[in-house]
This record gives sequence, structure tokens and C-alpha cells, in this order.
Amino acid sequence: MPAREPERPAGGEPPRGRAFQRLRAHPALRELVAESGTIRDHLVQPLFVRAAGDRPAADGLPALGARGVDGTVEEAARLQSLGLRGILLFGVPRRKDGSGSAAADPKGPVPSAIRALRDAGSGLAIAADVCLCEYTDHGHCGVMTGGRVDGAATLRRLTGVAVAYAEAGADLVAPSAMMDRQVAAIRAGLDRAGRTSTGILAYAAKFASSLYGPFRDVAGSTPAFGDRRGYQMDPRNGREALAELRADAREGADILMVKPALPYLDVLAAARAELDRPLAAYHVSGEYALIRAAAARGWVDEARAVEETLVALRRAGADLLVTYFAGAWAERAGGTGP
Ligand code: PBG
Ligand code: ZN
Repeated sequence: MPAREPERPAGGEPPRGRAFQRLRAHPALRELVAESGTIRDHLVQPLFVRAAGDRPAADGLPALGARGVDGTVEEAARLQSLGLRGILLFGVPRRKDGSGSAAADPKGPVPSAIRALRDAGSGLAIAADVCLCEYTDHGHCGVMTGGRVDGAATLRRLTGVAVAYAEAGADLVAPSAMMDRQVAAIRAGLDRAGRTSTGILAYAAKFASSLYGPFRDVAGSTPAFGDRRGYQMDPRNGREALAELRADAREGADILMVKPALPYLDVLAAARAELDRPLAAYHVSGEYALIRAAAARGWVDEARAVEETLVALRRAGADLLVTYFAGAWAERAGGTGP
């Protein structure tokens, strides 16, 4: 059934119309969600902001380095000069605890970077990942009680994190914890805080994948016990992925994301056929590593493999292409031409 029913915010209030203007508020955001346009206009580069300053990338994975706030501002300026439109920020805090409290710290790495980018007059659309796994000492995406996710406490914390990033000036907050009702909770929290124009880029269909390893090495977010299969999706379930996407649309997500990208191209294409919201594909760290490793051995041509991947994601229906190759793609393409 197409998701055409009126959208209701949490709590049984009257139906609220979709906020189309949210994605029109920023010139770079308009390019990212435009239904046509070049690959360059749709790329989003993930960046890691580290409280303790720069840390170079592991061998062969240059896009997985972490930077301090100043380094992040410099890199963002470089990406903008290459013609990119968007970045997605992740934080690597100094301290972790059981409830991920550092995630909501307005002086934490992500809010500090957003403010610095705003002060520097960056023209990029700024998205900030909203999750707890980089900030919890156990590495799970939620607040845990007795070895299980505490849903209510997790939604409260995620909402606080999203409001902190919105108040710092993020254009989009991007909840990635895969907690039920997280989009509804965050939308209500943003609205209560007066942040009605901050958009939500929802990781709506995020699978419990083998392909997040390099990311977790940078973020130090590998679970200390168990795994994420209690909240991330089972890779076998395509119909359920569509239900997750519809649910996030109804809860008020402005952009819907499928993650990882290539193994879930069927989900992306089905979402495109059914839903009318902008879609994003996240070509994740392990997908980046697969191409980098094979190219280093001369087994595949990196430039061609990346181009083919990005074309495939666009063909399947993605508007935003979140990829660690964004900067390298733009560098190879040269200038700010097409
Ligand atoms: C946080 C988050 C993760 C990624 C994006 N947001 C890690 C995870 O779920 O373990 C993965 C991105 C990547 O591998 O590039 N929840
Ligand atoms: Zn997480």
C-alpha cells in the first residue's frame, strides 16, 4: 500500500502536513535532493570529528582518517571547492560512558565542528549522525539495561542529541540507531525546541551488515558484547525493509536512507517505486574498503569501479550518495564542472 495516508505526529495530535519547505531552505540541500543533476551534486562525504585532534587513516583507507575541529573545517572547504554539496559528521569523543552522555554535549566534537563550519561561512549542507555507539563504553547504539536496549531511555537520549546538533546549526540530523519510533521522537523534540526547519535524514532500512568494520575501527564502536541484530535489520528481509521505510516516512523523515548500498539495491529500487520522498544510499566503509583493497592489488580499476557503483545507485533511485569516495571522485573529475 503506498504511503499516502495523512501523517500524524506522535501523541494523537491532528494530522500535520508534510514540510516540503525544509528541503528548500538551503541551496546545497536543494541540489542534493534535486530529481536530476550530475553525480557531483548528489555526493555526501562522511567526516569523522575527533575531540582529541587529528588521527591519520589506516593504510589504504584515506577517507577514514579523523580530524579535529580545525582540520574538519579545512577539509570541508576543500570539498566545497571541489563542487561537493554535503557532508555527514560523526563524532569520536574523548570519553565514553554507559549511556552515551557525551553525544548530547553541546561542546562535543560534532556540535563544535558544526558551529565552526557555520562561523567559517561554509556553503555545504551539514548532516550530523545521531547515534550513541560512538559514545557508549559498551559500543551499542542505545542505553542498555540488563544487557537489553532500554527503549524509552534511548529515545530520550537520541532526542537530546538531535536537538543539540540542530541548535549548533545542522541542516539535517541523521538518526542511525535503528530504534523503533526514533524519527517520531526526534521530530517531536525538534519541534518542541523550535527547530521546525531542521530536517531528518533517516537511516530507515539499516541492515546488520558485515560491512561496517572499518567504520567501527575509526569510531571505536565495536560492541563489547553481543551484536546489533537486536535492532538493526536482518539482511534476509526485503519486505520488512519497505515497512521500515514507510514507517519513517509517516513519522516525519524528510529523506529516507538505505544502508549498505550495493547489496541492497533491490530495496532502494523498491523504495523508489513506492515512495515519493528523496532517497539516500549509504555506500559504507566496508564497501569502500573492498574497492580500495582490490584496486591496490591491481585487480580492479578504482575510478571505473567507483563510477559504475555511483551510476548504479542513481539508476536504482538514490538521490543522495553517501560515500567515502565523494572527495576522491570530485578530485578525479576535476574542477567544479559537470
Ligand atoms: C552508527 C553508524 C554506523 C555507521 C553509520 N552510523 C556504524 C554501525 O552501525 O555499526 C556505519 C557506516 C559505515 O560502515 O561506513 N550507528
Ligand atoms: Zn550506532
